[in-house]
Amino acid sequence: MPALIEIQNFEKSFGTKKVHEDINLDIRQGECLGLIGGSGTGKSVLLRSLIGLERPDRGQILVDGIDITKLTEKELIPVRKRVAYAFQGGALFDSMTVFENLAYPLRAHTDLTPRQISEKVMKLLSDFGLAGNDKLLPASLSGGMQKRVGLARAMILNPDVILYDEPTAGLDPFNTTKIQDMILRLKQMGKTGILVTHDMPVAFKVCDRIAMLENGRIGVVDTVETILKNQDHPIMHFAHGEVA
Ligand SMILES: Nc1ncnc2c1ncn2[C@@H]1O[C@H](COP(=O)(O)OP(=O)(O)OP(=O)(O)O)[C@@H](O)[C@H]1O
Ligand SMILES: [Mg+2]
Repeated sequence: MPALIEIQNFEKSFGTKKVHEDINLDIRQGECLGLIGGSGTGKSVLLRSLIGLERPDRGQILVDGIDITKLTEKELIPVRKRVAYAFQGGALFDSMTVFENLAYPLRAHTDLTPRQISEKVMKLLSDFGLAGNDKLLPASLSGGMQKRVGLARAMILNPDVILYDEPTAGLDPFNTTKIQDMILRLKQMGKTGILVTHDMPVAFKVCDRIAMLENGRIGVVDTVETILKNQDHPIMHFAHGEVA
């Protein structure tokens, strides 16, 4: 499969602290790539960089061959429609109902009529097992439900790529399974995904390949199939808590 996103010689520091030394990684069309690594290794910074929320000090990020690190805020708008970031915690608007939260991007970015918007929102809620919650405010939903609504909202503009930043962190097994099913479903729809997670069972279930960040580089990247066959694989050691 061809690479949809190519990260090349990516380097990023904050002050005197160099987080990314030299990151090189390809994300292929239609795959779900897991991105793991200890806390503070720069997983979230790398995800944010893919939609231009952070700029590298050196290197490039090619999305369909276009270097997005050089784009202006205005030029990034279409990139951000195509590549959706499912923010940790859902990042819902507290004063808007679930329906309004999902309708908002459609009103802002499309010419759909109110009726078309309503149909689209209700269908998405139903597709993701969230029907019946449209009139509720985020505060009255459980944390797990908020995350699921947040993920549904990330999908509303029909992006090609979804960046998941720890989508199951702090969730009970029921909601973890629901999120896992959403990710699998999106993958079946042909969406490309990058999953940042500490939840290795989820990563093994939904990812095609997993890349591990170590010392500012991608230390290892391998297929889940290969990793699971080898108890001595570095990613297996990470999964078992044997490396930081
Ligand atoms: N805006 C910022 N200003 C200064 N330092 C930052 C900023 N954003 C991130 N960092 C630093 O960069 C490093 C990487 O942060 P990042 O949030 O990407 O880690 P992470 O791998 O996502 O960790 P976690 O698994 O805990 O979420 C951390 O040391 C963090 O403190
Ligand atoms: Mg993070």
